[in-house]
Amino acid sequence: MGRLSRVAYVCGALCFVVSCSLAIFWGYKVFVHKPSMEKMDQAKYKYHFVLVPEEMDNEYWRLVGKGAQAAAKQNGVLLEYVGPKQANFDVHLKTIEMSAASKVDGIMTQGLSDEQFTPLINRVVEKGIPVITVDTDTVNSKRLAYIGTDNYYSGVLAGKALIADTKGHANVAIITGSFYKNHQQQRVKGFEDAVKSENGIHIIDVEESEISRVRASEKAFQILQNHPEVNAFFGTSALDGVGIAQVVEQYKKTGQVYIIGFDTLPDTVNYIRNGTIQATVVQEPYQMGYEAVKLMIDLVEGRKVPSIVHTDTRIMRAKDLPLTRKNIGEGSK
Ligand code: BGC
Repeated sequence: MGRLSRVAYVCGALCFVVSCSLAIFWGYKVFVHKPSMEKMDQAKYKYHFVLVPEEMDNEYWRLVGKGAQAAAKQNGVLLEYVGPKQANFDVHLKTIEMSAASKVDGIMTQGLSDEQFTPLINRVVEKGIPVITVDTDTVNSKRLAYIGTDNYYSGVLAGKALIADTKGHANVAIITGSFYKNHQQQRVKGFEDAVKSENGIHIIDVEESEISRVRASEKAFQILQNHPEVNAFFGTSALDGVGIAQVVEQYKKTGQVYIIGFDTLPDTVNYIRNGTIQATVVQEPYQMGYEAVKLMIDLVEGRKVPSIVHTDTRIMRAKDLPLTRKNIGEGSK
C-alpha cells in the first residue's frame, strides 16, 4: 500500500468510527426519553412527573402547565411539560410511552380517545406508573383519577346560554375541535341535548377544526357561504371561537351572528369586549394542572384520591368583564 492510500485508509476508518459513535449517541437521545433529567439534579427532587398536553404551543395548555409547575415547585417535584407541538395523536401517544419507558413517577395526560389511549394507559398503569387524566377522560381505562371539566355538562351550559341569548331562535353551526376526541364529542352531545326540545333552534351543520384556529376560520367561512341562514355558532375548543370571530368580522356580520366559544384566551376576551363573541364557556386550566400534581403526590404516597374531580365551569359574557385572575381560569394559588 502506497503512503497516500494508507493516509486515505486511516482517514476513512476514522470517519467511519466517528459516524458510528454519532449515530449511537443520537439514536440513544431519540429513543431514550430523559432529556431534562440529564441536565437537572435529580437528587434535589422527591418525584419526577410528566405532563403531556394536547399541544405545547397552545395558551390553554400553557396555563395547565403553569398550574402544574406551581404545585410542583411547592412540593419538591420535578415536572416535565412535553408533548406534541401541535395536536397529533401519534406524537402524544409516543410521548406517554417514552415517559413510561424512562420510569417517571407519574404521568398526567388527556384521555383523548378510548380506542387509542385506553390500551396504552392500561399498560402504563399495569407497569406500576400512576396515570391521571386531565381535561379529557377515558373513563373506562385504568387511569387512577380524572381532573377537569365535566365536558358533557359544559356543552349543556353552552346550549342553555345560547337559548337564553337568542330567545330560543337560532340556526346554529357547530365547529368542534375534533370528531374523534372524547371531550369534544361530549361537549357537542351536551349542547345538542340542551337545545333538542327547542322548536326555534336548528343545528344546521357540524364541522371539525382539528384544534386549529386557521381551520376553524376556513370552516366558518365555508359554512357562511353554504348556509346563509346560519346566524349562530358554537365553537367547542379554545381556538374555534376566535377562528369563527375573525371570519364574522370579515363578513361584516358582527352583531348579526351570535357566537359562543370556549375558554378565556386573551383573543377571546378581546372579541367579547368588542361584541363579536357574545359568550364563552370558562374552564379552569390552571387549577387542573395545580390539582393534578397534588393528586399525583397523594397517589404516589399511598393516599386514596377521588376517581373524578370536576373543576368549575361557567358561562362568561361581556357584562362579566373585566376579568379577574379567577375568571380567566388562573387560580389564586
Ligand atoms: C380544550 C383542550 C384543547 C384546547 C384547544 C380547550 O377547550 O379543553 O383540550 O386542547 O381547547 O385549543
